Amino acid sequence: MPAATGVAEAAAVLRSGGLVAFPTETVYGLGANALDGHAAARIFAAKARPSFDPLITHLADPADLTGLVGAVPPTVAALAERFWPGPLTLIVDRPPVVPPIVTSGLPTMAVRVPDHPVARELIRAAGVPVAAPSANRFGMLSPTRAEHVVAGLGDAVDLIVDGGPTRCGIESTIVDARGDRPVVLRLGSLPVEALVEAVGPVEVRQGSSGRPVAPGTLAAHYAPRTPLRVVTPPVPGRADDDTRGYLALRDRPAGAYRAVEVLSPDGDLTVAAARLFDALHRLDATGVAEILAERVPDTGLGRAINDRLGRAAATWHEQG
Ligand code: TXA
Ligand code: MG
Repeated sequence: MPAATGVAEAAAVLRSGGLVAFPTETVYGLGANALDGHAAARIFAAKARPSFDPLITHLADPADLTGLVGAVPPTVAALAERFWPGPLTLIVDRPPVVPPIVTSGLPTMAVRVPDHPVARELIRAAGVPVAAPSANRFGMLSPTRAEHVVAGLGDAVDLIVDGGPTRCGIESTIVDARGDRPVVLRLGSLPVEALVEAVGPVEVRQGSSGRPVAPGTLAAHYAPRTPLRVVTPPVPGRADDDTRGYLALRDRPAGAYRAVEVLSPDGDLTVAAARLFDALHRLDATGVAEILAERVPDTGLGRAINDRLGRAAATWHEQG
């Protein structure tokens, strides 16, 4: 099917209150008309997402922000100007036209302009802002390919627009820049270093325990079905270990694992981020009893990678 036809059809589904999974530069989103409370409610049902976890509203163009919410604080405007379209989500006041279910009742709203031609064309064609969380079941691995969406959500979605694998592979960075000093609420595909370079010092204040700062940045999240443990190499190998899988950054591990995924032979953290969830989906499918995942250097996108691995591991620790 030609892409243009796919997008026009998908836009019609959105306008009529349906759910469309679509590619962004970060991960696939599960979209609904953000001005339609019933459509947004279907997102929570399809994902089995708790109602306290607010959605991100997606716009086609940076200029659409003021049309939707009016004037924004100067640092919010500066960050939007610098990084949109791109993997940065900003917190603004929720405008009355957006129903409270989209923000889980919060007076604030998360918003971004994705840097993906299909996503932008779709939102533009729909003619409405599009509320979209990642297109996976709540708490599970994020989808970086259309196949992941099919496997995770199946019939709960009305239509999937297949744009191939996503470029960044990790969700957007979420920043609340309404106050004096910007606060990073979720590490993501826009490195903290890029934010600092643009607007000076920022605070990273992520939820890490039971009470998240941003609802939904829960300690346990992004989890494969297989128990996952974060390790620091070198890990002593066993001669015959066919019960475990191993996620390496650059070097194959010593020892005989059932399955090994190497994220980037060059140790390139951008490449590693792009491949992270796909590699975890593959390891998960091998049926191993445990996945060992290497901690990566804690700079640039490495911070977001370590964040995702830590939350995936926490799921299993909390369950004992
Ligand atoms: O890259 C992304 O951001 C992807 C693509 C599809 O755009 N979307 C995504 O959505 O990751 P989701 O639902 O998986 O994560 C949304 C996060 C949640 O942790 C939620 O708590 C936070 O955004 N959030 C939404 N509205 C918020 C608000 N008003 N204040 C603080 N955090 C908010
Ligand atoms: Mg998500």
